[in-house]
Amino acid sequence: MRVGILTGGGDCPGLNAVIRAVVRKIHNAGGEAVGILEGWRGLVEDRTRPLTVEETDGIIGQGGTILFSSRTNPFKSPDKVEKLRQVFRRHQFDALVAIGGEDTLGVAHRLHREFDLPIVGVPKTIDNDLSATDFTFGFDTAINVVVEAVDRLRTTAESHRRIMIVETMGRHAGWIACLSGIAVGADYILVPEVPVNLDHLCEVLRRRREQGRPSSIVVVSEGVTLPEGTVVQQTQLDEFGHVRLGGIGAALASLVENRLGIETRYVILGHLQRGGPPTAYDRVLATRFGIKAAELVLNGQFGQMAALRGTEIVAVPLAQAVAEIKKLDLRYYEEAQEWFFGAYTQPRTSLP
Ligand code: F6P
Repeated sequence: MRVGILTGGGDCPGLNAVIRAVVRKIHNAGGEAVGILEGWRGLVEDRTRPLTVEETDGIIGQGGTILFSSRTNPFKSPDKVEKLRQVFRRHQFDALVAIGGEDTLGVAHRLHREFDLPIVGVPKTIDNDLSATDFTFGFDTAINVVVEAVDRLRTTAESHRRIMIVETMGRHAGWIACLSGIAVGADYILVPEVPVNLDHLCEVLRRRREQGRPSSIVVVSEGVTLPEGTVVQQTQLDEFGHVRLGGIGAALASLVENRLGIETRYVILGHLQRGGPPTAYDRVLATRFGIKAAELVLNGQFGQMAALRGTEIVAVPLAQAVAEIKKLDLRYYEEAQEWFFGAYTQPRTSLP
């Protein structure tokens, strides 16, 4: 059995742990693994490398992806899809393991549905916004990066009696901002799922200052929309039609400083959240996903994705995983609000 493996979309800590697990499981079953370079681009342009057990043995703790990645969408042109299918046939692949988020797995789903390509998926993204799985690998590492950064920012913010706005990634889902915000005891959290109430945010920050609190930490997700008139998004689109986010931290800091007259700084954590070694949790989750994906391949269960449900690794249809993005479960936000709504008289924002 010859199995291709590719990693697509934004890189993510834990990708190498998945690759290692798939290679080991396929090898143990007497098969052969081949790495496809740079996501779907490698399959269109026929760029591959052999993947042996020896080569992948020590990579469990390595960040990034040894297979490289790209945001290539072969469905942008019928020509590319045709080339991809030819390369697939030429390599005589019996199966393909696609490790990616909604875009990469969306392509995997279409290739399986429209052309019957034997593909299984593995859910990757620091954003944790993929449906049909409780968590994706990479998310735990990302929120731990935010926690470490904010623990450091808190002490310098206190020394200078500043407000610090910390912008996280996460695209249009508030998972990273909300869960890291809870973990650092943020004084306010803004997520895309809940409309911004600037008056309330400023009131909370003002009262904290009146109460003698030296600093305040606000965690804001990059996908939050500010009240009318504030433009923070760049218009550049990737091949999947996504706008490049980033910059709301700066806009919010100047709004808050102008309103309150309190020095307000911002930090955009950006790609720090995607870099470096995966946490132990992500290494284990990625390994379990990789083993499950290889099992699906060996059992001929194509069009499926490995997923986490509770503590079990299960198979779910790719169609279900890519049907819609998984927004933040607002029960987490409800709990986080105890600290910034509970303490002040203003009624809670009723959550959508
Ligand atoms: O989907 C992962 C992610 O890191 C998002 O949180 C972020 O908006 C995006 O990718 C950034 O992508 P790029 O590295 O291509 O700018």
